[in-house]
Amino acid sequence: KRVAILISGRGSNMTALIDACRLPDYPAEIVGVGSNRATAPGLEIASARGLETFSLAQSQFVDRDAFDAALTQKLDAWNVDIICLAGFMRILTPDFTVRWAGRLINIHPSLLPLYRGLDTHARALADGARVHGCTVHFVTPDLDEGPTIMQAQVPVLPGDTPDTLATRILVEEHRIYPEALCLLASGTLKY
Ligand code: GRF
Repeated sequence: KRVAILISGRGSNMTALIDACRLPDYPAEIVGVGSNRATAPGLEIASARGLETFSLAQSQFVDRDAFDAALTQKLDAWNVDIICLAGFMRILTPDFTVRWAGRLINIHPSLLPLYRGLDTHARALADGARVHGCTVHFVTPDLDEGPTIMQAQVPVLPGDTPDTLATRILVEEHRIYPEALCLLASGTLKY
């Protein structure tokens, strides 16, 4: 399967996916990386690994529909089968998510349905949560909704800060995102 990754930032999950896809027998290849921020550090990492990249800024477009149409055009030009959102800090239009339904997945740093949205680690700590984690899920029109594909749980430890918790969870993100993509790309997983 031909996979595109969309990012907005550092791209550590992107890197984990790129590395996994280069393993023998992995059922997917990364064909390119797109961003809504031209300065996303992940874009340089992707280029350095020989991947094609693009960036699109909302300021180039009249509205969200026009942005998402341009995004679709780029992805279609790559003949993409599956899109992985990896720290893509942008809400996609319902039209876009419906068009890619079952082929569009995201990683979110919480045990969904807990802590949708931003600042998940600080919120979990403020609640006194004993466990926290991450979720790979199909993307539907509603933010951080959509069927769960895989989750990983970590303990919250005494003295944790949002940063220490994020670091512990990121290790798990890098493990489960490639596993979840493998399931989808191999046809093992049905939407
Ligand atoms: C990750 O925590 C991911 O779960 C969230 O955004 C962050 C992206 O980090 N959606 P990176 O760009 O993959 O390093």
